[in-house]
Amino acid sequence: MLRGNKVGLRARHEEDIPVLRTELYDDVAGSSRAESRPWRPIAPGAKDPRLVVDDKNDGAVPFSVVELEGGTLLGTATLWGIDTHHRSAHIGLGLLPSARGKGYGTDVVGVLCHYGFVVRSLHRLQIETLEDNAAMLRAAESNGFVREGRLRSSAWVMGEFLDEVLLGLLAQDWKTDAKS
Ligand SMILES: CC(C)(COP(=O)(O)OP(=O)(O)OC[C@H]1O[C@@H](n2cnc3c(N)ncnc32)[C@H](O)[C@@H]1OP(=O)(O)O)[C@@H](O)C(=O)NCCC(=O)NCCS
Repeated sequence: MLRGNKVGLRARHEEDIPVLRTELYDDVAGSSRAESRPWRPIAPGAKDPRLVVDDKNDGAVPFSVVELEGGTLLGTATLWGIDTHHRSAHIGLGLLPSARGKGYGTDVVGVLCHYGFVVRSLHRLQIETLEDNAAMLRAAESNGFVREGRLRSSAWVMGEFLDEVLLGLLAQDWKTDAKS
């Protein structure tokens, strides 16, 4: 397991799946904001890639996020779009509603940076998030990500186009104490 200050990132367990489906992916508005694909229901037992991990996919590494103390499930975190030629990847995360606003997201971004830069020897990490996602922007910037651009009207979200902000962080600019 990867450890931060407050969170652990571990493999997806079978018992995580119903919780993630009910609390995260069945939220139409929330899913529509966090996912690049349109919302659709996930049937019980379905091998939906958002829930069930495909170990053969080298391009993405999905984690379940748990509280370090006690092991309570907090959400998901993913290193995706892993490109071993350019040594880059994207990061994404989604916390259960009850876990938001408590500093876990900032910690998760830091652990994903450790995994990307230290464990995987990547050179560049990237995040795209909606321009009004203040918590995600702040969690990224606290870890050293810088805003590199605005993708105008790039996301269709529940009836309107929204801009996305593109943030990047290079290995040489990453400091493990960026949050302090
Ligand atoms: C976005 C998300 C991962 C952030 O994680 P989090 O644990 O809620 O964020 P944190 O508690 O670490 O807060 C990070 C910062 O944002 C601020 N913040 C938290 N919630 C906020 C809100 N609703 N509005 C404005 N600022 C907020 C915090 O005060 C903190 O700022 P600080 O570093 O100056 O103290 C989480 O809220 C989430 O999963 N949201 C739904 C899914 C999503 O949007 N995923 C990202 C898709 S790109």
